[in-house]
Amino acid sequence: MTIGGLVGVPVLRALVSPGFDRTAPAAWIKVADDINTLDLGVPIKVDFVEVVNDVWVESRLLRSVWLYTEDAQAFTAFSGVCPHLGCSFFFEADKKVFHCPCHHGLFDGKSGAVLGGPPPRGLDTLEVRVEDGALFVKHRLFRPGISTKEVLA
Ligand code: FES
Repeated sequence: MTIGGLVGVPVLRALVSPGFDRTAPAAWIKVADDINTLDLGVPIKVDFVEVVNDVWVESRLLRSVWLYTEDAQAFTAFSGVCPHLGCSFFFEADKKVFHCPCHHGLFDGKSGAVLGGPPPRGLDTLEVRVEDGALFVKHRLFRPGISTKEVLA
């Protein structure tokens, strides 16, 4: 291959598909400053802004996760993206379920398991870690519409 060919490949790739490289490492997001202030036995929604650099454009995307703990020692974090087709969902406290309004997907409020509707899998869980009393979530996106949990970014 010529030097022109070596230089041309990355340039061509950037021109054709600047957003092609989706392999950036997942970010750890601080979602609670103090784990002892979290409500117990009730899912809590936490919104945050993710900065995405796509070669020429820096975008700020509003993301959300749902946290659940019964004892402020063990934590579950769910992606805020419905695994059916990617809508946001909310918690119905009286029924203790997550409800996705797009196609009426229902998920258990504690485990995230599918209770009804078209979602092919339960809510996607995220890795969590506690550091100096703060709670962090490793934010990822997963392929919607399939029965298995497949990382997209
Ligand atoms: S996107 Fe949530 S049920 Fe369809």
